[in-house]
Amino acid sequence: MSEIAKIELGGTTYEFPVIEGTENEKAIDISNLRAATGYVTLDTGYKNTGATTSSITFLDGEEGILKYRGYPIEELAEKATFIEVAYLLIYGNLPTTTELEKFRSNITKHTLVHEDMKQFFEAYPAKAHPMGVLSSMVCSLSTFYPESLDPNRSPEAKDLTILRLLAKLPTLAAWAYKNSTRHPFMYPKNEFDYCKNFLYMMFAMPTEEFKVDPVVVDALNKLFILHADHEQNCSTSTVRIVGSSQANLYASISAGISALWGPLHGGANQEVIEMLEKIHADGGDVDKWVLKAKDKEDPFRLMGFGHRVYKNFDPRAKIIKKACDDILTKLGVNDPLLAIAKKLEQVALEDEYFKARNLYPNVDFYSGIIYKALGIPTEMFTVMFAIGRLPGWIAQWKEMTENKEPIGRPRQIYTGEVLRTYVPIEKR
Ligand code: SDX
Repeated sequence: MSEIAKIELGGTTYEFPVIEGTENEKAIDISNLRAATGYVTLDTGYKNTGATTSSITFLDGEEGILKYRGYPIEELAEKATFIEVAYLLIYGNLPTTTELEKFRSNITKHTLVHEDMKQFFEAYPAKAHPMGVLSSMVCSLSTFYPESLDPNRSPEAKDLTILRLLAKLPTLAAWAYKNSTRHPFMYPKNEFDYCKNFLYMMFAMPTEEFKVDPVVVDALNKLFILHADHEQNCSTSTVRIVGSSQANLYASISAGISALWGPLHGGANQEVIEMLEKIHADGGDVDKWVLKAKDKEDPFRLMGFGHRVYKNFDPRAKIIKKACDDILTKLGVNDPLLAIAKKLEQVALEDEYFKARNLYPNVDFYSGIIYKALGIPTEMFTVMFAIGRLPGWIAQWKEMTENKEPIGRPRQIYTGEVLRTYVPIEKR
């Protein structure tokens, strides 16, 4: 017998079904609430509200569990490649050798962007933040592929747009960086795998032979996997709601990139490094900065700490923290910011303010230290997050379109003026 939720309003008792997911999560289905009662719910920031059902990613915030299509993140980060995980998220299963080879070669075919797009880059100032460039460039891709404007045109057209986006985002991202350095753009090389190709386009110069440490390529592969999806976070919810109006996939992903840019979301990885550099420059007095983070009068927050869902360790942060030590040791990098980060974590985790609020390091706390060791400039950190998150955004958008979900349109409670009469300006 499935559970029923009962709500008593104005002397009447209303019943609503309770639904349960495969991981025993429960929700009260209020799809019929307003029609039955005339009431809506209010949940600013959607802290208690499920927007959809999904079979892509499962998080358990209390237990610190993250699984993509049922596979624990720890296994995928250790054993899979990013392209394999992208296929898993988008198509639902780990690919066979044949499927993976076809997916990889199809992506390789589409890594170039239209030559006309280079003029767009040249119009940006060198100081342009790459997230602003990337969001615009991704939306501009739709102007070169008018057939993509109808997202429901055909499964084949949908798959082609998915391949084009997966293939072109690293190229656009690397060119946004090259544009900021005013260095020559490097074209993708088909013989390189996804991560190595991105590093080539980022760091190679036409005048020199390109060499990259396999440790760097492996680190990028792991970081992209760890960022690949995270159920209904801010940017994914943005992709879904933009896509729910039947806007094309390029426009939906462009909106997701813009949402990710925020310092409370994906922009936090850049903020963390800037915070650590500030603490380092200030003499490394960690206790002083933890006090500032706790002071409600002080706008300073411990960036990379806290999470809407994880009230225990973010499992990705644990993996990245370990990878930090491994990668910096292998690369022979001794970054004082790592020691400061570890001290910050230790002090915060022993502090009642953070413990009482279940504030732990999140995915952004250590990732920037690795990006820095790989030679990625700070302003590109959130771009790296976007490249990693792209398969998740695509998978969530695909699921939403295939489930034919209605256009997203939340309700509100109006609290403004009730009725006023227009007064000519001379009488105001
Ligand atoms: C990502 O949702 C996802 O899944 C996101 C993500 C993904 O993969 O897509 O995991 C990626 O965005 C990770 C989060 C990156 N952002 C940061 O590191 C920014 C710093 N963190 C915070 O701003 C905050 O913790 C959030 C935004 C992450 C979560 O905010 P919530 O859930 O709205 O919680 P809140 O702001 O209401 O905080 C609860 C309390 C408050 O204190 P009180 O009002 O109870 O006294 O905790 C305090 C907050 O002031 N608090 C912090 C803090 N984070 C929360 N205090 C100091 N430093 C912090 N970092």
